[in-house]
Amino acid sequence: MFNLRKIEPVFADDDYGFTKALLAYINGESDRFPEKEKVDYILERAYQKNSVADQQIIQHTLFIIYQSLLAHPLSAPAARQYDSNLLEIKDKIECCWLDNEFSGLSIPQEVESSAHYGDFLKTVWHKHRASHHPVFEFLEKDASVEQLYYFFKSDSALNLIFFDLVAYTLIGSQPETRGTISENLWDEIGHGDNVFTHVNLYKDVLARQDITLPENHYVDMYGVEALAGHNAFMLGSVNRKHYYKLLGVMAMTEVLDPPQYEKLVNGCLRLGLIDRDVKYYTEHITIDIKHGDDWLYNVIDVIAEKYPETRKEFYIGCLLRLRTAERYYDQLMGKMNTLK
Ligand SMILES: [Fe+2]
Ligand SMILES: [Fe+2]
Repeated sequence: MFNLRKIEPVFADDDYGFTKALLAYINGESDRFPEKEKVDYILERAYQKNSVADQQIIQHTLFIIYQSLLAHPLSAPAARQYDSNLLEIKDKIECCWLDNEFSGLSIPQEVESSAHYGDFLKTVWHKHRASHHPVFEFLEKDASVEQLYYFFKSDSALNLIFFDLVAYTLIGSQPETRGTISENLWDEIGHGDNVFTHVNLYKDVLARQDITLPENHYVDMYGVEALAGHNAFMLGSVNRKHYYKLLGVMAMTEVLDPPQYEKLVNGCLRLGLIDRDVKYYTEHITIDIKHGDDWLYNVIDVIAEKYPETRKEFYIGCLLRLRTAERYYDQLMGKMNTLK
């Protein structure tokens, strides 16, 4: 979501009154920043004591701060873009999250040594459970229309912001990679045809099923897993130091899509939807094969060759995407199982 004058939160109430106070501050309704000790306390519970409820508050805090960075330029949230209080908690949360996610990670020796790094990263994708997650098999063979619509709604927010996420990869990019990235962006914007922008193709998927798109793009369906998945993109988009991670996140996103969307489209056709209904997904079955290869071979390999110290960052970005996607798919599967 972007160009909003006020933050669209997933929830406003938590046990600490923290989210409500933070929202009031970001939205310019209050000049009192919530007590910072609260963030420390919630962070400790989230990542030292593994409290999922607190992880949700933390990821949601990051989510609303990131959302404020794309708010309407004349809005209160935009005016607070570089507010030192917000930057302080944003940095703190990002550090704790990444520390927790990757503590004890052993980096495979191929990260340093592989001559064909893009190919190695493809094996990382291929071996990861996210690449063959049962949720897509379920959508293909067993899901009901209601379960499929739940998937569509849940898929909305990220698909509808994807142009902006790709655009973030272009700023400060390595000059040799700019043609490839621009081509990807050009695809996202439907080669200049407004009907075929990927955002509009996705809106069409919803409209053709009479699914109304609320202003919050269904983020109220987001649990901690979806929030973290969304944040994984924004983390690299808005922090220069995580730029290479963002490219890893992008590469894995593009390689994940084609085989999963093939299953999803089969499921849609099984349930009586027609090709015309799922143009967004069929388009991505083919185009994302090229995008995936482009990120891996024409962007990541080019940078890794020139700056070998970037390899670990790409690897961590890839893992961040695969891990957050896996948890999100698990959560989605669990949720869909509770529906008929
Ligand atoms: Fe796309
Ligand atoms: Fe793509």
